[in-house]
Amino acid sequence: MRPLIGTSTKMNLTSSESTVYFRVLLPLVADIEACDLFVLPPFTSLWVAREMLSGSNVNWGAQDVHPEESGAHTGDISAQMLEDLGCSYVEVGHFERRRDHGETDSLVAAKVQRVLAHAMTPILCVGEPEEGPTELASKFVVEQLRRGLALVDATELQRVVVAYEPGWAIGANGRCAGPAHVGTVHRAIREWLSPAAGVLGARVIYGGSVRPSAADGLLAEQGVDGLFVGRAALDPKVFARLALSAARVAKVGKTASTA
Ligand code: PGA
Repeated sequence: MRPLIGTSTKMNLTSSESTVYFRVLLPLVADIEACDLFVLPPFTSLWVAREMLSGSNVNWGAQDVHPEESGAHTGDISAQMLEDLGCSYVEVGHFERRRDHGETDSLVAAKVQRVLAHAMTPILCVGEPEEGPTELASKFVVEQLRRGLALVDATELQRVVVAYEPGWAIGANGRCAGPAHVGTVHRAIREWLSPAAGVLGARVIYGGSVRPSAADGLLAEQGVDGLFVGRAALDPKVFARLALSAARVAKVGKTASTA
């Protein structure tokens, strides 16, 4: 499975700042072939991404989408608009959207379906809100996943990226989850997905206070197919370091990378 390393800049970076960000990032990652990369800037910078990242090895996408095809939804953005801007990925159900905008699993499910209908990859975020035993976290996440993917046909499941992002691990007050916890939850997700999808195609990536110092340990875990980074990757040099870590793991294999 090719590792997937991505960042959402959340509500950071104006269009001008995104231009600078991409200008710095591109040469740093230009030689990376062993893993897939994406950035999710704010809606207002997607045109910048299209202009600057087209033809590069960095894909781009959006942090949210409206579930309806089009219509009277003031201020919202449709999947068709994102597809038109060259987006490959659309993040759905991030913890902050569930928390700040009251997004429910059924809304999230409708968004996932809409993204797939427009030939883009949904990045479905799941995660337990509070820190607790790993077994309970796995149960919570699999249930959330079941509801979030309720409208997806089994044959389409391998087109989804699952981002395991525990609420307690995200943001300035968060703490990166330990590799053993993350690995166990990821394997539970994969176990649920595999019989449902009939394939092992869907990638499961981890997000929540990821830093370069934690990357190797996380990526060494079986079932961790990549990283989804917030604050740390606001420095493009850090994003590039994380991408290089993943590319190295992809080349030498998980076991050797920890040796
Ligand atoms: P963080 O954000 O790295 O700033 O904790 C992660 C995320 O929300 O994906």
